[in-house]
This record gives sequence, C-alpha cells and structure tokens, in this order.
Amino acid sequence: MQQRITINLNTDSKTTDKTTILEYCRSHGIAGIETPCGGKGTCGKCKVTVTKPYYKDVLACQTKICDGMEIIVERKESTGTKEDSMVVLTNGENVSEKINEHVNEHVNSNVVLKEETANESEKVESNEDTLAACDIGTTTVVCYLIDKETGQIISTRSGANPQRSFGADVLSRIDAAARADDNDKANGGLQMMQTQIVSLLNGWISEMLTECGRTKVSRFSVAGNTVMCHLLMGISPEKLGKAPFMPDEYFGRKFNPLDIGLENCQIMIIFPAVSGFVGGDITAGMMETVNCNELTLYLDIGTNGEMALGKGDRYVCCATAAGPAFEGAQIELGMPAAKGAVDKVWLEGRRIKYSVIGNDRPVGLCGSGLSMRLPFF
Ligand code: FES
Repeated sequence: MQQRITINLNTDSKTTDKTTILEYCRSHGIAGIETPCGGKGTCGKCKVTVTKPYYKDVLACQTKICDGMEIIVERKESTGTKEDSMVVLTNGENVSEKINEHVNEHVNSNVVLKEETANESEKVESNEDTLAACDIGTTTVVCYLIDKETGQIISTRSGANPQRSFGADVLSRIDAAARADDNDKANGGLQMMQTQIVSLLNGWISEMLTECGRTKVSRFSVAGNTVMCHLLMGISPEKLGKAPFMPDEYFGRKFNPLDIGLENCQIMIIFPAVSGFVGGDITAGMMETVNCNELTLYLDIGTNGEMALGKGDRYVCCATAAGPAFEGAQIELGMPAAKGAVDKVWLEGRRIKYSVIGNDRPVGLCGSGLSMRLPFF
C-alpha cells in the first residue's frame, strides 16, 4: 500500500524547513513508517521515497522537509512488519470470579491500592454497572468494557500502540519523551505520546459505550509497564533511562481521568509498579497468583519480558528486553519471525544455507536467523 504525500509549508503552521519527514508524518497522523530506533538514525528502517524535488530513498528521521516536497510512504505486504501481520491477543482463559469480588479480595488487600473516599459528585454521577480495563503494552493496547454485575466482558478493542512511531522499545520512548520538538516547544515527545494514547483510549471507550448502550465507565483500571504509565499520565520517564532506574511515580492509586483528558470515565486506577521495570502490568497479572500457597512462576513475555517466582506473600521478580530484541529491531534487515524472514542459517561444506519462513523470497533476518548467522561473521 502506498501513500503519496505533498508537503505545503505555507498552509501548515506546525512545520518548518527544520522539520524532518518523520516529525511531519507523526504530527499529521501519517502511519506506516517503521521507527524501531525512535529516530536516532541507527536502524535504517524508516526509509521513504522522495519523488520531488529530487528522486531518492531517504531515512525519514534524518531528512528535512521542504516546501512542495513529495514523498511516498510504502508499506510492503511481504515484509512481515507488525503492522501487516499484527495479531493482538485479546482472549484467554477467563477468571470465574465476579469482577468486584476479585478486586476486593486481591487488589485492595494485597497490591495496596490507596483508597480515597469518592467525593459526592462522583457518587451521584457514577454509573455503577460498567467497568473498563486496559493493558497498555509497549507494542499493543487492549481495552475491555466489563459488566460489573456479571463480570462479563461486553466489548473489546485492541490495536497497535500509536507511540510506536517514537520507537519500538521503552528505551527509545524514554529518549523520545526527553526530547523537545524543535518546531513546537510546548509539544515535545512526552506530550505527543500522551496525546496519542489518550486519543486512542477516548475513541475506543466512546465506541464501546455506544455499542453497549451505556453512558459512562465507573472505574477504569489501567495496567502497563512503568514507562507506559508515566507516558499516559504525562510524567517524564527520564529517570527510568539511567541508573538507578527509579521511577518518579509508583501509581497504585486513583486518578481523575479528566486531568489527562480521558472522557466518559468516573475514576481511573493505575496498577502499582514494584520497581522501575516491574510495573503495574505484572502486579495486575499477579492477581491470579498472590495468596497461592504453591510455588508459582508468572511470565509476561512482551516487548519487555518479566517473570515473578514465589508463593504466598514472597516473590522475586526480574525484567529484561524481549520482543524487538528477538526481531532484529535495531538491525537494518531485522524483522519479526514472519513470512520472508530467514529463520535458520547453517553451513554445508563451504556453502552457507538458510531457510525462509513460508518458503518465500528472503526479506530479512528474524532473531533466530540473526543469532545463527553471527558465528559466520
Ligand atoms: S527511525 Fe530512522 S533510522 Fe531508525
């Protein structure tokens, strides 16, 4: 799929000739450019074709725009990029408890959410029968609307995290959040990423409420890694990018959704982080394992990988880079393990042999292909 874009600086107050093609596309909602390194110029994945005033393939993050420039943003069907092949997991084995009992039994007593008394206006307006829950992942976002009485999921939305244009991993996002936009000082990376995620959630919640004939969410529970929660709240995650990696905020309390522009929700609760890289997504997931008297291993293998091992009230946790680290995200020809990816490389005599997923034309190297290839260098 091709998008042909013409840049007209005279009618666009947000951009100048110092703006890069990537910045222009981000601020105009033009999707399709892969940016695993977040615009540092190191991954080589953000190539677009300039057709006017010159003809050249360029890196969108390194090339400045000019008036009248024409560019083609191309999404190749066979590259196996996540946009082409992304399947977001939204279903699984469901817990049998009613949601409110579950929350009362596990969350309030163990994960130490700081309860605050709802003020009178909250009590009056609250539509007590509708809850929402959201998992904000570095790569994907999933949101559910839940009937509080039955605990049933009544509507679901899922998709790519729009902040991916600022980089595939949390370190790229931390870096981008710290960077100001040269053309729009009041609208740097942090504000842009916050706007992106809040807009996505606003759209989904509004759609789901309409679909289910409801008007308001009484409680919106958010689970995400510590960086994603900082970005949602517009808090700089800069400290998470350098030792000792201590967050500014551990969450685990109520927030007023309107403070971040989130509409149609009465109260927002963000699950507590344990440390900089063991975030609310882990504590939310561990609701199933706390108070279990058997040794339990909890795994969350996403863009970041975390594990927690323990039983009862004692667990040890650790976290490391996972997803893009196995997809060659920072390698020019790296790609997910999708059609066209070289997944195995071996020697037969003096000849290098390889296999390609889908027996197709090779397009790039996925993680296993890359690691098997390394000994030959
Ligand atoms: S985003 Fe341009 S080189 Fe990585």
